[in-house]
Formats: sequence, structure tokens, C-alpha cells
Amino acid sequence: MKQLKPNVYEVGAVDWDRRLFDEMIPLPDGTSYNAYLIKGSEKTALLDTVDPTKTDVLIENLVEVGVDRIDYVIAHHGEQDHSGAIPDILMLYPDAKVVTNPKCKGMLIDLLDVDDDNFITIDDGQTLSLGDKTLQFVYVPWVHWPETLGTFLQEDKIFFSCDFFGSHLATSSLFVDDQAVVYEAAKRYYAEIMMSFRAAIKKNLEKIKALEIEMIAPSHGPVYDKPEFIINAYKDWVSDRVRNEVVLPYVSMHGSTRKMVEHFVGALIKRGITVRQFNLSATDVGKLAISLVDAATIVVGSPTVLSGAHPLAAYAAILANTLRPKTKFASIIGSYGWGGRMVEQLTGLLPNLKVEIIEPVIVKGCPKDDDFVALDKLADQILAKYKELKIAD
Ligand code: FEO
Repeated sequence: MKQLKPNVYEVGAVDWDRRLFDEMIPLPDGTSYNAYLIKGSEKTALLDTVDPTKTDVLIENLVEVGVDRIDYVIAHHGEQDHSGAIPDILMLYPDAKVVTNPKCKGMLIDLLDVDDDNFITIDDGQTLSLGDKTLQFVYVPWVHWPETLGTFLQEDKIFFSCDFFGSHLATSSLFVDDQAVVYEAAKRYYAEIMMSFRAAIKKNLEKIKALEIEMIAPSHGPVYDKPEFIINAYKDWVSDRVRNEVVLPYVSMHGSTRKMVEHFVGALIKRGITVRQFNLSATDVGKLAISLVDAATIVVGSPTVLSGAHPLAAYAAILANTLRPKTKFASIIGSYGWGGRMVEQLTGLLPNLKVEIIEPVIVKGCPKDDDFVALDKLADQILAKYKELKIAD
């Protein structure tokens, strides 16, 4: 039995074997669907449920804790990895009411066909007494859906943050026991689903400053008993600061683009710039997403296929455009055999990025001496930009 504080339990499920989320996001370390049970002196509340594939685990945990009655099911978020077992819980505990905000209520009706009569809706800041424990609801929109809220348990100073501050990490530990491992997983999670809402996340960070938080209990990954660790990480990620880095996702068919990439990477390193190179034919896109959180520049490397960009390069561009990192500069390097519109196609896939496009380097066939000089100049231009930003010497 996992207990955060007296009468506050984690009753969710660890999914060690899941390897893909949303049929897109790799989960190298599995994940968890955290649900929390709070037993007050008068009422009992379940905060979120689990992915429907793990409903049996949730029920077993409730039995182990000895729950004969649930008065409230707090639904922080409509997405099914947390709400999916609500219908089963309502069947087992028919007197329970689903407590959520009006927007999430609408989603739960749409997604899970929960009956209108089952709901109690609450406003931002409203409190709900369980007797000796008080729940305070805090709207945290766009982490990563518009309806999401968290709950602050006032007496125990625990903030149940739902996806906010979460990490896809299956672990047997209730609390963070290795900050380096959790940092990487949390950064991956932020990059994949929160980064595109950076402005909203900043506002939510400001908002929770008013709470005296001693513990953060997210809906994925371990609980933070030292909350400043993850709050400071988020502050850094959402800040406008970019790093002296170039992210270089590339693909090469017959080696021309690869030779350009190899030369260009060497040129950047000689200039003191950190490079993160990804061969798109074998890349964990989560790693690529993590690297986009801080880097000042993205350079996509692509050959020309049937007069356009290689589809894997297009995928990387679409991914970057979707994730909306704070990247300031972008460019393209690559090759062609006889012609094409690869550059126009790739730049056209980046409308969401507020980037300055630095003149691409595109070569016909195999790169020659002049082409390597052009790549050196591209590296010089990037360094000059970084000096202006004071992120390079
Ligand atoms: Fe973990 Fe947005 O659900």
C-alpha cells in the first residue's frame, strides 16, 4: 500500500510494459496512471482513475486500502488515461458523485457517456470539505487540454497536479528516488505535450505560487516530495532562455546529406556549439523533442526524393512545428540529384515557429570543397547569432 500522508493513498496502476502513447509517443520507461484516495473524517474522495486497461488494478488497490464508500470522484482531466475507469467506479460505488469543472464534465459526457446526474461542478478556487481534510480546486488549463484542473489538499499541503509536472516513468517507488532519471522523463513529457502551450504553463506556474506546496502528486510518474526540483525545472523550460545548441535531425539515402551533416557537425563543434544529431531513420522522437526544449537552432538535413523533402525530414519539421519550441533560428542542409522544391516544402512546414531562417545549404550530388566552405559559413552565421544573444563566446 502506497501512502503519501496519513489517510492519503496512491491507488493507481503502474504500466511497465506500455511502449507507445497516443500511438505516437515512445514510452521507453513505461508509465503510470496515478489515482489518489483521500479519506476524510466524514467523506472519501478518489482523485482520478486509471487507463481502462488497468481498471482491475485500481479496484484491487481500493479493496486493499479498505474503501467501502466513495463520496466523490474528482476528475481533473477528461483524457481517458485518467478518466477511463470512471464508469466502472460509478457502477461499484453508485452513490459517488463526479466532481469536476463544467468543461471537463462536457468531455466526460462526450467521451465516456457519463450521466448528467452523476456530476457536481465546481469553480476555480472552490473548496470541498471531507471533514478534517479540505480540497481546494485549482484550474490549470492547457497542461495539455483546456479543461484540466488540480487539487490542493490544504491540511497536508499536497498539490495533485494531474498531467502538469508528470513523467512517463514506471517505477516501484512512490516518491522520486533518482532526480536525474525523473528529470529526463519529465522533460520528455513536457516537450511532447506541454511545450506548445508554454505561455499557459508559465501562467499556471505563477498561479500555484500562492499555494504552500510541500508535495506534488502528478497523474504520471513518481510523487515529488521536494517540489522545488520540478518547479525549478519547469521554470527553466518555459523561460525565454535558449542554449548554445543546434538540433540536427537528418536523413540520408546515398550518403551525400550524411557527408554534409558530418562536416557541419564538426564545424559547429569547432566553434564551441553543442550539437544534437538525430538520424531520423532510427530516432526516438521523444529524444528529439527533449532536445528541442532548449536549443537555439534547428537545422534539418534532407535529401530530395521525387522532387520534395524526404518524408522523414518532413515528419521532423511537422513535429517541431507542432511542439512549438522556443527555438530562434532554423536552416536546412541537404542534396538533390536534378532539382526539386525540398527547401520550400520544409520551410512551409514550420509556420508555427517564430524563427529566423538562415540561408540553407543545398548541393547538387555529392558535396564538394565549395559546399563544405558553405557549411562552414552557415556555422559561422549561427555562432554570430549566438554571440549576439550572448549564449556563445
Ligand atoms: Fe495523462 Fe492528458 O492524460
